[in-house]
Amino acid sequence: ASSTEVDISAIQPGQAIKAIFRKQPVFVRNLTPKEIKEANAVDVSTLRDPQTLEERTKEGKENWLITMGVCTHLGCVPLGAGEGENRGEFGGYFCPCHGSSYDTAARIRKGPAPKNLEVPEYEFTSDTVVKIG
Ligand code: FES
Repeated sequence: ASSTEVDISAIQPGQAIKAIFRKQPVFVRNLTPKEIKEANAVDVSTLRDPQTLEERTKEGKENWLITMGVCTHLGCVPLGAGEGENRGEFGGYFCPCHGSSYDTAARIRKGPAPKNLEVPEYEFTSDTVVKIG
């Protein structure tokens, strides 16, 4: 299986980019301190798919949220990884197909999607490069 290398050096806090991994979109997001705080303030036991931000990121790199850009409902590409896109009421990603809202840890918070956006296998090969897959 092939992997994808992404240069993250130009991704500013608050910004997310869309890359392609195994022919599917993958979102690479640099969370702001406020977004991290919001994700950590959620009572995980109330979530449909209970996971902490810590579980969804790498130790010491909690600001880098890397997920598939594929809604877990019926597979649309959520908005939020481009300029001026609607990130929905929980500030993460918003799927316009049937209105699923994801939070700043890309966890499903509202709408029909059953699961959080999937976190693929990845590793940091340097401070500025992430190898996905
Ligand atoms: Fe995203 Fe239905 S595909 S809400």
